[in-house]
Amino acid sequence: MKVFAHRGASGTYPENTLPAIAAALEANADGIELDIQSCLDDLVVLHDSWLDRTTSGQGKVSEFTYQQLALLDAGDGNPIPTLDSVFALVKQQTMLNLELKHVGELRGFIACLERNLESGLINQQQLLVSSFNHPMLKALKQQLPWLKIGALTASIPLDHAAFASQLDAYSVHVDKDFVSAEFIADAKQRGLKVYAYTVDKQKDIDYLKAIGVDGIFSNYPCQTKMYLSI
Ligand code: G3P
Ligand code: CA
Repeated sequence: MKVFAHRGASGTYPENTLPAIAAALEANADGIELDIQSCLDDLVVLHDSWLDRTTSGQGKVSEFTYQQLALLDAGDGNPIPTLDSVFALVKQQTMLNLELKHVGELRGFIACLERNLESGLINQQQLLVSSFNHPMLKALKQQLPWLKIGALTASIPLDHAAFASQLDAYSVHVDKDFVSAEFIADAKQRGLKVYAYTVDKQKDIDYLKAIGVDGIFSNYPCQTKMYLSI
């Protein structure tokens, strides 16, 4: 069962910051999940579309330039990272699950991927792009057919995992409270991996492993990897 560091090692460091990502690498996480938003002139790693909860700023991320955002404190004195700075740190060391929140037009995101792929900093295999916005995932897959797509759902839809197959997804990412053996069987039969979020308690880890989940998102990747290795 793979362990993805949720927003980096966000239980230990400020979420979606470079120290949280560095700690996930240190923990040998199988992947790192990060939330992507667009500002006026760049792509940044931040969960909310508003600055207020996790930074020293106020207002909508999309209304600022990165030069302005770079002055803010995203926790423990760390700035909001750009997506480019994440690629520069992670390189090809582990999988990157980029969850698209509000990225505006896909053009900027695709250009960012292509620029970093062409320079050889990252590779296609390590990328997994997920979102709750399924029409956006569909448009992205049409433009980048090689890209692994993760269909996010906060509950189990009536059609089980069929919605993810229709998106030509690689994986389906489900809230841990809704995932079941029946859902996993349906997803596997459709060739989809099942990843569950957000999982930190040992009893949840044990249950999800027992029913055959392919991966979990953890705020504590170091502790979770250690627990699973025992
Ligand atoms: O990608 C899984 C999970 O991160 C989705 O929920 O709110 O933590 O982005 P959220
Ligand atoms: Ca997320």
